[in-house]
Amino acid sequence: MACRTIVTGGDETLRKTARPVEKIDERLLTLLDDMADTMYEADGIGLAAPQVGVLKRVFVVDLNDGRGLIEFINPVITNRQGIQIGEEGCLSCPGASGAVERPASLDIEATDREGNTFTIHADGLMAVCVSHENDHLDGVLFIDKIEGELTRS
Ligand code: NI
Repeated sequence: MACRTIVTGGDETLRKTARPVEKIDERLLTLLDDMADTMYEADGIGLAAPQVGVLKRVFVVDLNDGRGLIEFINPVITNRQGIQIGEEGCLSCPGASGAVERPASLDIEATDREGNTFTIHADGLMAVCVSHENDHLDGVLFIDKIEGELTRS
């Protein structure tokens, strides 16, 4: 396991659409391990593969809420309901923060590293986080969605 470099700002990888994972192989498992290391090292709660320069539909999340690390391969979000607005930041946009509108709840279906499909019903911070990370797979950053003012520190 190793930390990878998080791409930031104007890097064009962040603006591209990631491709579905076709095979769960050693290379992908190493990517997942490295992404978790990188997220923890950076004190983040989520990290998507494009943020380490890999255009695959993969992200990892750990909200520090006791649920531990969750790995999402080829995630699909359905059943978005309601809205919540909260302050967000992103490891790829250092120092930037702002209020973003997200679904209040959603369902997310994905594949785990064993190849099994799972579905999570998410609300609160989990809904925000998976929505934010899923956007990364489509080249969308939270700064695109800010309501009102973007703060830079
Ligand atoms: Ni982000």
